[in-house]
Amino acid sequence: MLLPFQAVVGGLRRTAGGLRRRLLRRLMWPDERAAYDAFRERRRQPMDPAAAWRQTLDLHVAGPPRAQNAVDIFAGDWTSKLPDVGGTELAAGQHRLFEDERIDWLAGRFGIRGMSVLELGPLEGGHTYMLERAGAASILAIEQNRRAYLRCLVTKELYGLTAARFQLGDFMAYLKTGPAPVDLCVALGVLYHLVEPAELIDLAGRVSPRLALWTHYYDEAICPRIPEQARHFAGTFESRYGGFVHTLHRYEYKAALGWSGFSGGAHSHAAWMDRATLLRCLEHFGWRVDAIGYEDPHLPNGPCLMVLATRN
Ligand SMILES: C[S@@+](CC[C@H](N)C(=O)[O-])C[C@H]1O[C@@H](n2cnc3c(N)ncnc32)[C@H](O)[C@@H]1O
Repeated sequence: MLLPFQAVVGGLRRTAGGLRRRLLRRLMWPDERAAYDAFRERRRQPMDPAAAWRQTLDLHVAGPPRAQNAVDIFAGDWTSKLPDVGGTELAAGQHRLFEDERIDWLAGRFGIRGMSVLELGPLEGGHTYMLERAGAASILAIEQNRRAYLRCLVTKELYGLTAARFQLGDFMAYLKTGPAPVDLCVALGVLYHLVEPAELIDLAGRVSPRLALWTHYYDEAICPRIPEQARHFAGTFESRYGGFVHTLHRYEYKAALGWSGFSGGAHSHAAWMDRATLLRCLEHFGWRVDAIGYEDPHLPNGPCLMVLATRN
């Protein structure tokens, strides 16, 4: 039985929850608001028991085991094109992250064999797979998105990875724990998903003497002029981290948040540096840039470059 004060507290909580939701909804962009409304409408529909039973039974896979069954748990979410398993082609994503020249380049420059590697944001483990094949002694790959993490585990099982371990969590929080040092930190495709990118450049230097970084950057002459890019940017602001004062460009994910295969960060926005700021930031935190490659100012999602850096 509900005591009167419990009913009152329950009522107040519900009112506070409703107000919070209304406020949140008002802060959303129109396309986010539409996705949010559709989600809440779905939750309001009572599920009939037969549908619930069907859902349970649908979890079971018919026929003999095959690699595609595991891949299909996340059908529609995969970004990466997966290598064949046992001569059988797999239907997954399109991007060739399991045969990525950028990893070959960094392996050629840094010589991965025998190294301990910390990989930030492995997504589906494509680079992890390549780092293991390049001879890394151990790879700790930290992924924050639950569904991406599970896809990494599918990869690990399909390709029998043994030197790699995947852990689920925020790599920034991990770096702040003062972890054991590694030989190489691989940070491809993650800097521009952070809200405080300078912090990663600082913390990476406390854990590793080598850094491989690929990132998008902001370019005033390009980003505001390309509608597909411009619609994501929402102003500039000053930031100060570790004595490094700099300008950042706020990037809103918007509709990308509606895809279950979303491969960004944990906030609805991130902060981009421009190229000069990125290079100054590396220098400020003690990195020496040894090589810059894969630079393309005209990539549809935004200008990008890859940096290999070392520190004493
Ligand atoms: C764009 S993907 C890059 C994947 C791969 N590294 C590459 O370069 O192709 C970014 C990945 O980093 C993950 N990620 C972003 N911020 C993270 C964080 N703070 N901690 C752990 N994973 C993060 C995302 O979930 C996503 O899987």
